[in-house]
Amino acid sequence: DRINYAEITISAVSPSQYPEDGLTEIVLAGRSNVGKSSFINTMVNRKKLARTSGQPGKTRTLNFFNIEKELFFVDVPGYGYAKVSNAEQEKWGRMMTEYFATREELALGILLVDFRHEPSDLDVQMYDLYKYYNIPVLVIGTKADKIKKSKYNKHEGIIKRTLRFEPEDKFFTFSSFSREGRDEIWEEILSYTRN
Ligand code: GTP
Ligand code: MG
Repeated sequence: DRINYAEITISAVSPSQYPEDGLTEIVLAGRSNVGKSSFINTMVNRKKLARTSGQPGKTRTLNFFNIEKELFFVDVPGYGYAKVSNAEQEKWGRMMTEYFATREELALGILLVDFRHEPSDLDVQMYDLYKYYNIPVLVIGTKADKIKKSKYNKHEGIIKRTLRFEPEDKFFTFSSFSREGRDEIWEEILSYTRN
């Protein structure tokens, strides 16, 4: 898949700022440092559309990336960063539920989890939040280049069990280094934009 157009449209904190293009939206969530920015950059073949940084917890807004004028990737602040205050966390929760509860354009929720590790309580809560709002979920195991192929089934099993993954959802492994998973994930994402 060649991507010619990928630009940030707006960093929004409230519904009045959401784009009015009516394009399908794919939201991306995951704990801080899971590889979310790298995922976006790899998917759109850009080195730094989404900023990868050594400074976790920097994103505080909903970042709408217009991809090929066909869909938006909506990057949300990573969770689970220890230095974020309770007040900030509550603000995060309000911003997310406001978006999830009201947004008709939202078609798919991506949950990025580190393929190496058992999902955290916050990962489970994020999965449950998607389920609560009836958002179809794509769980993506990131940094898969760090795991031997012979261990894939074991890791996938642990992740699915811990999340209490439901059969209607989809699971993919991904690496921004090897680009493993990219084509399959694009195919899945695009199936939500066509009809
Ligand atoms: P924050 O926005 O800071 O919360 O992080 P993020 O989730 O956007 O993660 P980011 O893409 O900035 O990557 C975090 C770290 O993980 C960086 O050091 C990346 O080099 C590393 N990383 C990202 N993707 C991969 C991958 O596929 N494989 C490996 N091995 N490392 C990765
Ligand atoms: Mg990031």
